Amino acid sequence: MNEILFQPVKLGALDLANAIIMAPMTRDRSGPGDIPTENMVQYYRQRASAGLIITEGTQPSPAGKGYWRTPGIWSKDQIAGWRKVTDAVHERGGKIVMQLMHCGRVCVTANKQDSSEVIAPSAIACANKVPGPDGVPVPTAMPRALETSEVRAVVQEFAQAARNAREAGMDGVELHCASGYLPNQFLNPHSNQRTDEYGGPVENRIRFTLEVLEAMGDAIGSERVGFRISPYNPYNDMHDDDPKATFGPLLRGADKLGLAYTHLVDVADMLGFVNANYSGSIITNNNLKVDEAAAILADGQAQAISFGRYFISNPDLVERIQEGAELARVDRDHIYTGEDKGYIDYPLRNAG
Ligand SMILES: Cc1cc2nc3c(=O)[nH]c(=O)nc-3n(C[C@H](O)[C@H](O)[C@H](O)COP(=O)(O)O)c2cc1C
Repeated sequence: MNEILFQPVKLGALDLANAIIMAPMTRDRSGPGDIPTENMVQYYRQRASAGLIITEGTQPSPAGKGYWRTPGIWSKDQIAGWRKVTDAVHERGGKIVMQLMHCGRVCVTANKQDSSEVIAPSAIACANKVPGPDGVPVPTAMPRALETSEVRAVVQEFAQAARNAREAGMDGVELHCASGYLPNQFLNPHSNQRTDEYGGPVENRIRFTLEVLEAMGDAIGSERVGFRISPYNPYNDMHDDDPKATFGPLLRGADKLGLAYTHLVDVADMLGFVNANYSGSIITNNNLKVDEAAAILADGQAQAISFGRYFISNPDLVERIQEGAELARVDRDHIYTGEDKGYIDYPLRNAG
C-alpha cells in the first residue's frame, strides 16, 4: 500500500530514486567559521537513501545568521566543507539540495561570529525570544530597515549563494520562505511596513521573494530552485489574519518561474489551496504518518513527502518504511547539542 512512496520522482531537474525526502533541520553543529564538520558529512551520508536530502538552514551571508552554530555558504572554506557532504551523499547515490535561510530579524547578536548587522524589511523587532549561545532563549536584536538599494543587494547575495551551493556540489537550492525568516518578513504585512516597492500592497510584499527566486534561477537554472512556505504558521511572530491573500499571489507568481518545486509545511490544511494556485511539483510536510503520506501521493495532491523528525532518529528511514520496521524515537535532549550524541549515533537497523 505504501509502494507509491518508492516510485522515482522528477522535481524539475532533480531525479529522485523515491518520494521520501529528508526535511531541512537545523542541528547547530557546524564548526568555527560556520564550516561543515566531519560529523556533518557522516550525518548526511547516513541519510543518503532518502530520495532527496534538504540540508539544514544555511546562511547565504554573514548577516543571514541568527542562530548558534548554523553553517554558511558564503566563504571558500564553507564551500569546501559542503563539498565533502555532497560527495558523501552522491557516492551513495543520493541527491541533496541546500536550504538557504536568511534569519533577518530572528537573530541573537551573540550567536554571530562577526559584527554583521541585523537587518529586516522594517525596524520592528521579533517579539519572541531565540536561544543564545548557551541555548537559553533571549530577546532578539532590533533590526535596521534595509534601504531599497540594499534590498536589491541582498537579492544578489542569494544568487551568489546559489552559485556557491552548486560549486559545493549541491543538486539545487531551496529558499526558506517560512518560519518568520527574511522572505517571510517581507511577505507579512506586520513585519513589513515599507513604503517603497517592497512594501504595502501584496504585489510589493511578494516582490522580494519572487526576485530572489528569479535571481537564483538565473544563476543556476530555475529547475534546480525550490521554495518553502508555511501559511498560517505564527512561528517567529508571523501573525497574519489573511495569509491566503499573500500566498495566493506568491504561488501564482512563482508558478511562472518554472521552479523545481514548492515545499509546503502544512499547518492549516493548505494542500488544496496550493494546488489551486500552483501547477508545478509539490512536496508536503508536517507531522505526517507513513500511511497518510502514501494516501496524499495516491490522491495526486503532492509529488513527494518530506519527513523531519523521523529522519533524525532513523538514518535508514527509507529501508525501514520499505520493511515495515518499527521507527526509532528522537532523543529530545540532544537535538541541538551533544556533538556525536543524538546526531550520528542512531543505529542502522541492518548494521553489522
Ligand atoms: C530539530 C529541527 C530543526 C528544524 N530546522 C528547520 C530548518 O532549518 N528549516 C526548515 O525549513 N524547517 C526546519 N524544521 C522543520 C522541519 O523541516 C519540519 O517541517 C518539521 O519537523 C515537521 O515535520 P515532521 O513532523 O516530519 O518532523 C526543523 C524541525 C526540527 C525538529
